[in-house]
Amino acid sequence: MKNIALTGFMGTGKSRVGRELAKRLGWRLIDVDTEIEKQEGMKISDIFARFGEPRFRDIEAEIVRQVAGKSSVVISTGGGVVLREENLEALRKGCHVVCLGATPETILKRTSGNTNRPLLQVDDPLAKIKDMLSDRAPFYEKADITVDTDGKGPLEIAEEILAETVWKK
Ligand code: S3P
Repeated sequence: MKNIALTGFMGTGKSRVGRELAKRLGWRLIDVDTEIEKQEGMKISDIFARFGEPRFRDIEAEIVRQVAGKSSVVISTGGGVVLREENLEALRKGCHVVCLGATPETILKRTSGNTNRPLLQVDDPLAKIKDMLSDRAPFYEKADITVDTDGKGPLEIAEEILAETVWKK
């Protein structure tokens, strides 16, 4: 049976929905950002500050390679995982790739107050979110399915994903 990999912009609920899916399926949740922090012994924001985004992307790709081949797992990825085709290729091999979507306003609400997202630490985060969402749209569209998360809770979103993937007849 295929795993589930969650992609989507920051603040679309990948970690929370991933937890719910893992609970429902009795599978292990692997959060790529958490694995990066564990492996490097550093917060994401410190990795960006000390080594820069390109190095972060290399570490991220290495972790994706390590986790993509496991079985009975839900993989919650970072919002930029889709930017490298090799990541998507690795995930597609063993996973249903599910992208979570949300409006810029919802994303702003869900991410404000969190300082561990270096790309959103700017004067006008809403403008940045809108810019990044439009730049990244072609990459997020490469998922097998997309689920809109606006106005929905993690349980509802998880059920929708299960109906469209592992429970699909
Ligand atoms: C990023 C998203 C973050 C994290 C890093 C970069 C991105 O993960 O990987 O800050 O480029 O969109 P979340 O999507 O879990 O916030």
